[in-house]
Amino acid sequence: MKALEIKPGVYWVGAVDWDLRGFHGYKTQRGTSYNAYLIVDEKVTLVDTVKRHLFDEMLARIRDVVKPERIQVIVSNHVEMDHSGSLPEMVRLVPGATVVTTKAGEAGLRAHFKADWNFRAVDAGQEMAIGKRTLRFLPCPMVHWPDSMETYVPQDKLLLSNDGFGQHIASTERFVDELGFDVVMEEAAKYYANIVLPYGAQVQKLLAAAAGLEIDMIATAHGLIWRDRLGDIVAAYKRWAANETVPKAVIIYDTMWHSTEKMAHALREGIESEGVPATMGNLATTHISDIMTHVLEARGIAVGSPTLNSHIFPTVAGALAYIGGLRPRNRLGLAFGSYGWGKQGVAEVADAVTKLGWEMPVEQVTVQWIPGEADLAAVRQAGAQFARAVKGR
Ligand code: FEO
Repeated sequence: MKALEIKPGVYWVGAVDWDLRGFHGYKTQRGTSYNAYLIVDEKVTLVDTVKRHLFDEMLARIRDVVKPERIQVIVSNHVEMDHSGSLPEMVRLVPGATVVTTKAGEAGLRAHFKADWNFRAVDAGQEMAIGKRTLRFLPCPMVHWPDSMETYVPQDKLLLSNDGFGQHIASTERFVDELGFDVVMEEAAKYYANIVLPYGAQVQKLLAAAAGLEIDMIATAHGLIWRDRLGDIVAAYKRWAANETVPKAVIIYDTMWHSTEKMAHALREGIESEGVPATMGNLATTHISDIMTHVLEARGIAVGSPTLNSHIFPTVAGALAYIGGLRPRNRLGLAFGSYGWGKQGVAEVADAVTKLGWEMPVEQVTVQWIPGEADLAAVRQAGAQFARAVKGR
């Protein structure tokens, strides 16, 4: 196992999780990596660790550079166990090491690991000299946990950004430009949509705190490291944090006997007739975390459900619960669906959309039993009306 020197004296010593396919509800088709970094200075410093089962891989990479026993400082930017899972093993090797984290981080680590390590809790703007370098700490609470922090190394113009700007990608490449900007941006958008989206205000605070810093590399805790096109990922974070949208639509639905599906396609035709692109999100075939990548920037979100046993279809209810937690703002919603003898499914969709705070510029669109040509024409019209509202906003 080799370490990779990303800056003189700064090494990637993380682990690649090629097999990961799920991350608390987020489908990770490309796997992921847990990026730990080793800074070789007067005080050898480890920034973050890896998931518990990959501890040996991280340790081997550290050994490629220094004896692990030389580590004096461990920075824990984030308590979540994909980054802290190997901390107990690591501290066992270096029991005297200072574990640097936020106050919430210390509380979280104590609670997770019942640990009484040599903690040093830091606050915004505090610094720590480790030799020729200084570590400057940028706590970013709720990006995306209360303990979250980023660490800046001014001498290297290096931001160790933990979850921020990350992507779930397993790869042999370590830098964005080596793998390809478009692939990484797609995964960065998916990551933001599924992990960071509820915390736009906190992201804006973090971006403001980092704005004055000279940074030429953002070393994330997941996926690829940014050493060029930093402006592009930062600009995307600004847009996403502000809930900026574009005139596009997403149609999220499930179906029992293809009636709601037929309505979904008629809606798409109506929306596209007004020049607004619409992405189909059939919940039977498309994972909600992939649909979220499109929801991230789409202004119009149509949600369709049949009525099953006087209720919303369970997969649609689940999707709305997931979206509700991620709280996309400033959207236009549309509720649609088929029914046999009761319209409760669509009514429950409309309730959920209202609770999300989205405006609904078009009446609920319902069809009883099987949509005929006249029904589908009406659905197309509703789609066109919805698209005009999406464009006009
Ligand atoms: Fe990558 Fe919030 O842990």
